[in-house]
Amino acid sequence: MISTLKLLLDKLADRFLHYGSWKGYWEVLMQQFKPAWRDGYFRARLVSVKNLSSDMLEVLLKPEVSWPTHVAGQHIALTIELDGKLTTRIFTIATGANTHQRTKHIRLVTKVKAHGVLTPNLHSFVPNQWVNISAPMGKFVWPTTEKPLLMIAGGSGITPFIAMLDDAINNAQVNHRPVHLLYFAKPNEHVLLNELSAFSKRCENFTYDVLTKQKDGDVEAYLSYFASAHWLVCGPHTMFDQVERCAKMINVPVSSEHFAALPVVSNTSLTQNETFALVHNGQSFTIDNQQTLLLQLQQAEQPVTYGCGMGICHQCQCVKKRGVVRDTRTGELSDSAEQLIQLCVSQAVTDLEIQL
Ligand code: FES
Repeated sequence: MISTLKLLLDKLADRFLHYGSWKGYWEVLMQQFKPAWRDGYFRARLVSVKNLSSDMLEVLLKPEVSWPTHVAGQHIALTIELDGKLTTRIFTIATGANTHQRTKHIRLVTKVKAHGVLTPNLHSFVPNQWVNISAPMGKFVWPTTEKPLLMIAGGSGITPFIAMLDDAINNAQVNHRPVHLLYFAKPNEHVLLNELSAFSKRCENFTYDVLTKQKDGDVEAYLSYFASAHWLVCGPHTMFDQVERCAKMINVPVSSEHFAALPVVSNTSLTQNETFALVHNGQSFTIDNQQTLLLQLQQAEQPVTYGCGMGICHQCQCVKKRGVVRDTRTGELSDSAEQLIQLCVSQAVTDLEIQL
């Protein structure tokens, strides 16, 4: 009964108020009592921000109690209001679930991108400030296999492994099989080495190499020594490509994590390239059915707001006045009536009119 009423209110809010939900309509009022309250998000308090190296930051957060604890290796979307605009980026949690349960804190470790929108601003945040986080996401977690594990990290790709090792060593999972880590970063940019050293002292089954491409060469040179292991890789695309190519050649199971925008063609692939008219603000653009609306509006230099580019943060949400779109994640088609859509995960199926 309650869920039917909620569904009805959400539908009314969507139809008449252009809000995704009834709760969302009351957001501004709610924020008077609960700072940073947003429908569909969790809140977290910023505990501290500290430098780990010249361009790596550690951000400690205290999520509200309703936040569902993560599985080590998972990531969250962090949303922060900057100059009145919500900005979202994805970060892996660099602490195990045990540590979160014990301390109530989670840690993000991130590279500060010189021209980034969010990370260079993290230093200006003050302790106790509220931010928004998503529920934990992702399937890059400790594998269930009995094989030895080879972890391959590049740069800030070390974070999920720190979280996994934190939990696995606490839960004695590493006692049953060897785990080796190859940790690549630029010279003097390796972080959390003291934690790796502490892990290896606590557990003799865990060993690691701290490597730089400049001095030690490419990751490919090391992989054949671990042909009997299950490989996990988190790092830049070039590293991921090398590891995947090698894994295919010697038939090794590999799990990977790399945050990339969603593929521009849906998994229900549209084989025929068709073009349609997109009307927005009285202007008409030609768009195709292969790329997302967000990408095509950006290419047309239209002022679009967006955050994650992955269908998570809802910042690219806009009103579709008419026409049908396909959700690139599910292949599902919208109806042709007025409704809210997310530009980053929508492709045109007919002519469209939208209101940004
Ligand atoms: S940009 Fe985040 S949902 Fe589209």
